[in-house]
Amino acid sequence: MKPAFVFGTRPEIIKLAPVIRAFEERGIDPLLIHTGQHYDYEMSKIFLEELELHRIDYHLEVGSGTQAYQTGTAMIKIEEVLMKEKPDVSLVQGDTNTVLAGALASVKLKIPVAHVEAGLRSFDRTMPEEINRILADHASEILFAPTEEAKKNLEREGISEGVYVVGNTIVDAVLQNSEIAERKSKILDELGLRPKEYAVLTAHRAENTDSEENLKKLVEIIESLPITVIYPVHPRTEKRLKSLDLWDRLEQKAHVILTKPLGYLDFLKLQKNAKFVLTDSGGIQEESIILNVPCLTLRYNTERPETIKAGGNVLVGLEKGRVLYYVDRLLNDKEFYEKMESAKNPFGDGRSGERIVEILFNLYNKGELKVRSSRFI
Ligand code: UD1
Ligand code: UDP
Repeated sequence: MKPAFVFGTRPEIIKLAPVIRAFEERGIDPLLIHTGQHYDYEMSKIFLEELELHRIDYHLEVGSGTQAYQTGTAMIKIEEVLMKEKPDVSLVQGDTNTVLAGALASVKLKIPVAHVEAGLRSFDRTMPEEINRILADHASEILFAPTEEAKKNLEREGISEGVYVVGNTIVDAVLQNSEIAERKSKILDELGLRPKEYAVLTAHRAENTDSEENLKKLVEIIESLPITVIYPVHPRTEKRLKSLDLWDRLEQKAHVILTKPLGYLDFLKLQKNAKFVLTDSGGIQEESIILNVPCLTLRYNTERPETIKAGGNVLVGLEKGRVLYYVDRLLNDKEFYEKMESAKNPFGDGRSGERIVEILFNLYNKGELKVRSSRFI
């Protein structure tokens, strides 16, 4: 079997690495296509190095741009590679523009698409990611849903053929790397931190950074936090904070530590030892429940409702009062803290990569790895 992986951003590298590794363990070196949607060292290469992805077969250097420019350019360049290489299956992961471009380019060449992390829905169609998820799922032949809830979302849209509940590969990534991180990363010493005496914050979502009003709300929240907060800043947010003169404001606060985006080992170590996490990231909502660290999500909805139901995550939006209420409870209400910290991980056992590869091999051996003319058979 000749599988092709199409990826281009930080979370895709992290979540696909365990699947690539599972192929390698079965003696297959898959084709690796990096669109270059993320290109700074801290957003891409550091992860390729840490996760030992030393070979990228095609680097498409798509870079940044408008939604259509980025998706369209990626599609054109991915199509060229797929026409030349003719893989048996294209694997994409998640909900970025790279995923949509990879899925569309592939299915139109009649190369079946396997979507890792299929079926997530925020039910908010104003998010670019929601459009990408829906369209990628509908272009896919094989849908690797992380949970039963994700499977139900697909069923509601008429997709029941080719759906496999396999858990989320983020569990594989965390289990494979957190012990290495604990051993190798010196981030706590470098930043002068002690375990459980600080919070970690990340924010990069378009709805929180593009709107000046929302970004100001975020800054006010950070300024008001009654605990040391480490904020590794996504380049998108760094640019916005600087252009709105908000960066210096944050930097002047004694309890705020702004850093460049961190590598995976440093970030995992920081997250694992944090008192709690504040984030609008999808992957970090998942990781925090896996690492038993309470999470407050700076959004009004989430495509990871399993984390809320399990009790490890609370949607706080950008309402300062609500954020500070939950922060206060996490800091001062022991019972509440322990309940959140002991929430059970709903994303599986960390063997999703192996499972995905096994299923693809079975389909391939039965001659069923192909684009079907109809899903409704
Ligand atoms: C993208 C995904 C988002 C995902 C996130 C992971 C889409 C629509 N969004 O958002 O779902 O959560 O990646 O981090 O695909 N930039 C740099 N250097 C880089 C990359 C980006 O400076 O290496 C800056 C550029 O100014 C760029 C902006 O960040 O315009 C946004 O980058 P982009 O890839 O378009 O979206 P993300 O916000 O990273
Ligand atoms: N991450 C990291 N360094 C950072 C911030 C995040 O390694 O400075 C990792 C984090 O552990 C998680 C992933 O990046 O695995 C999440 O990516 P991001 O928040 O950019 O995207 P999302 O998950 O929201 O799509």
